[in-house]
Amino acid sequence: MAKVRSHFVCQSCGASHTQWLGQCSQCKQWNTLVDEVLDRVEEKRGSPASVKSRQPKPIAIDEIPAQDGPRTPLSDHELSRVLGGGIVPGSITLIGGEPGIGKSTLLLQTALRNPHLRVLYVSGEESEHQVKMRAERLNQEYGAASTSANCYVLTETNTQSIFKHIEALKPGLVVIDSIQTLHTAALDASPGSVGQVRECAAELMRFAKATGTPMVLIGHITKDGFIAGPKVLEHMVDCVLQFEGDRDHAYRLLRPLKNRFGSTNELGIYEMRGTGLAPVDDPSQVLLGNRTERPSGVVVAATLEGQRPLLIEVQALVSSAVYGTPQRSSTGFDLRRLNMLLAVLEKRCGFRLGAKDVFLNLAGGFRVEEPAIDLAVVCAVLSSNADIAVPMDCCFAGEVGLTGEVRPVTRADQRVAEAAKLGFVRIFVAQGTKGMAPVKGIEVIHVARVEQVLAHLFG
Ligand code: TYD
Ligand code: MG
Repeated sequence: MAKVRSHFVCQSCGASHTQWLGQCSQCKQWNTLVDEVLDRVEEKRGSPASVKSRQPKPIAIDEIPAQDGPRTPLSDHELSRVLGGGIVPGSITLIGGEPGIGKSTLLLQTALRNPHLRVLYVSGEESEHQVKMRAERLNQEYGAASTSANCYVLTETNTQSIFKHIEALKPGLVVIDSIQTLHTAALDASPGSVGQVRECAAELMRFAKATGTPMVLIGHITKDGFIAGPKVLEHMVDCVLQFEGDRDHAYRLLRPLKNRFGSTNELGIYEMRGTGLAPVDDPSQVLLGNRTERPSGVVVAATLEGQRPLLIEVQALVSSAVYGTPQRSSTGFDLRRLNMLLAVLEKRCGFRLGAKDVFLNLAGGFRVEEPAIDLAVVCAVLSSNADIAVPMDCCFAGEVGLTGEVRPVTRADQRVAEAAKLGFVRIFVAQGTKGMAPVKGIEVIHVARVEQVLAHLFG
């Protein structure tokens, strides 16, 4: 196949160069040149007939048939929900995550456990045997090999060949593992380079839209947390899902960062088991465990993850600093925010924490960004400091401001309902929290300042 002409474009100023240079001669930025396709004539010749035949023309919006409905539901409720209720025909979903977090596992088990859907799993990273070994492991629990009769594996990295196989097989879903391993003949650059990744994704997208084949692309994440190289990809695709979690813990969160067909407030929670990823239906129950008592420094926060209320254990340890400078360390909670809360306690509420080491941890390896967890953090710190346990049946939902005031949180009613469901009998929320209907079995205590909570708890 004749080579497509390509050129090197500076990603900073847009200047075009005929060869790769370390520094852009126009804007003098380093390492900004990326290989891009100059004209697509040759490439189109190689693309499938269905793509070529489609000639777009203006069409009145009223005449466009509404496409809501033919979403394909998945047997995995968590994934279905995060996608907004199933897979939309012709959509492209990018799923990103650190290596080893379970992206391949999630998509292979999706491919295996949806017999109504013919899935083509394109693996550029693992051989057929490796995929088979993983599939056997995943099938252990589900037993029946027949569930996977509709799953096809292809170890190919050339986009044009992949398109040919898709045309022949006509799958209902294509999984690409991973986008960084693909390469298109249109560019000389090596697989994984920004130019290749972007061009491959663009080809996949044109193909998906033209043929109506939904695709899921797996993308690796760099150390900085970006979907490697192709931050640009996030603009092109329809949905971006982030698969995250602590590799040392069993829980994994599937979070939509962008969704053209649904809300980004959803959240999927999984547990990594020996036989694959199992959806967690009642995460609060799992996270809180079957404790019969909570020692000092351990309190429960009623937070929201996406749209789901989630009760999480906040653990604090306060001890006298051995060295001159006290240590502050935090897992799952923003360290700067912890420092701010400690300063509030010191300055506004008169607790002498300046000479104390403070360690904070959220159980289960979760990360909570929501300020509603502040009140629980403050109570955990003070409980550990005084070495007095907070009663088992209390939980907290409130943001703490710089003056020591407790501020209302959103969706308080959902949090209260979840707390009541799990057997808590008291929940502390801010004065003026809106939308609160009384819930049976739980007392809602309104507080305006941190000191009032302490008066309630420790007398
Ligand atoms: P993997 O899906 O290969 O990660 P990614 O594709 O995101 O790089 O998952 C790898 C990890 O998952 C690996 O360390 C082992 C673990 N794992 C299990 O614990 N149970 C299982 O059933 C499977 C298949 C993997
Ligand atoms: Mg993988």
